[in-house]
Amino acid sequence: MNLNRQSKIGVVGSGAMGTGIAQVAAMAGYEVFVFDSNDSALEKSKTSLQASVNKAVEKGKMTSAVASEIIKRVNYVSFLAHFKTCSLIIEAIVENIVAKQKIFSELESIVSNDCILATNTSSLSITGVASVCKIPQRVIGIHFFNPAHLMPLVEIIPGLSTTADIIANSKKIIDDWRKVTVIASDTPGFIVNRIARPFYGEAIRIYEEGIADFATIDWAMKEFGKFKMGPFELMDMIGNDINYTVTETVWTQLFYDSRYKPSITQKRLFEAKHFGRKTGRGYYDYSSGAIVPKPTTDEQLAKEIFHRVLFMLINEAADALYMKIASREDIDLAMTKGVNYPKGLLRWADEIGIQKIVNALQTLFDDYGEDRYRCSILLKRMANSKQTFY
Ligand SMILES: NC(=O)c1ccc[n+]([C@@H]2O[C@H](COP(=O)([O-])OP(=O)(O)OC[C@H]3O[C@@H](n4cnc5c(N)ncnc54)[C@H](O)[C@@H]3O)[C@@H](O)[C@H]2O)c1
Repeated sequence: MNLNRQSKIGVVGSGAMGTGIAQVAAMAGYEVFVFDSNDSALEKSKTSLQASVNKAVEKGKMTSAVASEIIKRVNYVSFLAHFKTCSLIIEAIVENIVAKQKIFSELESIVSNDCILATNTSSLSITGVASVCKIPQRVIGIHFFNPAHLMPLVEIIPGLSTTADIIANSKKIIDDWRKVTVIASDTPGFIVNRIARPFYGEAIRIYEEGIADFATIDWAMKEFGKFKMGPFELMDMIGNDINYTVTETVWTQLFYDSRYKPSITQKRLFEAKHFGRKTGRGYYDYSSGAIVPKPTTDEQLAKEIFHRVLFMLINEAADALYMKIASREDIDLAMTKGVNYPKGLLRWADEIGIQKIVNALQTLFDDYGEDRYRCSILLKRMANSKQTFY
């Protein structure tokens, strides 16, 4: 099979992600077919695609002629049968394995044998989705980040049966859509959603212990870590419903490894529907006239907070490398391009010194006596043999 600009692309599910993915493909010159089981979702997608290209024209990022070409390339269809001639189909429906498996079975009865079937799932097993297919070899994860048309990273996740040819062709086409691709193994959270967990979880833990409030922790991470947003600001932007669900899913799928345990603080926000910006309240109050809390600008405290969160992130990144979830380069690329970290975590570890990180993690482990703080065996071995990641 040879994918090229004449290849037709199918997108199933026209919500936030499906609409963004359709836009990315159309911007790269591909003809796209978009299907949704809900007609009003299709209408909404049409309106938001138009609004998105209009915005790009207003900002001078594209001409109105280019914008109308993009719109023309996206076909909204009411039947999956329109996907018959597609070479790649990306599914972006509800995050439910049974619903996804049903769509994949239906698609297989429509498309040719060499059509690539991809899922944009954030947390489900690619192998599990593929398990209902007659040709599981052609099923792959192609995981975009939200908003898909703006975020540069795409994780490519082969399932257990996916062939090398399908991996290479998927990567080639997504590269042609001007995205940065990384290859991840089919494990819970793939690269980004696994390694990023301590950015949220350890920050909440520090708050729960009464060490600092939200504003101080956010300030520490921005001031000393140069992160664009603090953990609580970011969770409020992502939505505590989504962020909590991802945490819980990664934790349960990793067989309740305590390192990924969700927090009661965030669960309560989730239950109270304090999702963050979109509901007007999360860790912070976004109602008009609300008082913006000020951080305690204690440098010593802030550095301790920043190091504790950063070392837990590096520990995760090191373990992901050790467990062969991705390559050294892809782990660093994923965190800088997928969640805007100021540096790749493994490169950052080299700068700080592996021994210093091991010592700090060991102190946490000894103090708390919790498995959550166990140091990656890779970091320990590297410290012993004075190795660096690069
Ligand atoms: N939102 C994110 O930040 C994000 C990021 C990366 C990946 N994802 C993943 O992308 C997928 C879609 O997420 P979203 O945020 O776009 O969801 P969404 O709720 O915005 O959109 C889902 C769409 O799928 C449609 N749909 C549901 N069941 C269907 C079916 N059986 N057939 C056809 N259409 C169906 C719905 O009508 C809806 O329009 C999920 O698997 C999610 O985990 C989401």
